[in-house]
Amino acid sequence: MKVLGIHHVAIAVKDLDEALKRFSDVLGARAEVEEVPEEKVRVAMIDLGNARIELLQGLSPDSAISKFIEKRGEGIHHIAVEVDNIDEACREISQKGYRLVYPEPKLVAGGKRRVNFVHPKDMHGVLLELVEVVK
Ligand code: CO
Repeated sequence: MKVLGIHHVAIAVKDLDEALKRFSDVLGARAEVEEVPEEKVRVAMIDLGNARIELLQGLSPDSAISKFIEKRGEGIHHIAVEVDNIDEACREISQKGYRLVYPEPKLVAGGKRRVNFVHPKDMHGVLLELVEVVK
């Protein structure tokens, strides 16, 4: 597997519109907002050129993001690294004994990315997302 760089840093927020206004204001960057009902989140991806900031707001109190905020407050939720081949990456990482969140990579962002996560308990409290950009 080959790591190509940081794809995005995700931040859990209570109010996406307010957060997006601030981050756009400070960084002068634009973003696409997307609702993902099956994951109970609203997402804004702010493009920073060589990486992105992903703002995440839970759509209901039982969403993972809402629970995260309740437990730890707003702030960095995960770091995503881009890999050239996510199947290979997942295979290598689980062979080394690290736990992945999904048994198989998940297709997200309307089919634009395939992702999986390394469990934060294996990564010093950091949720690490693996991203393959679908060509
Ligand atoms: Co992410």
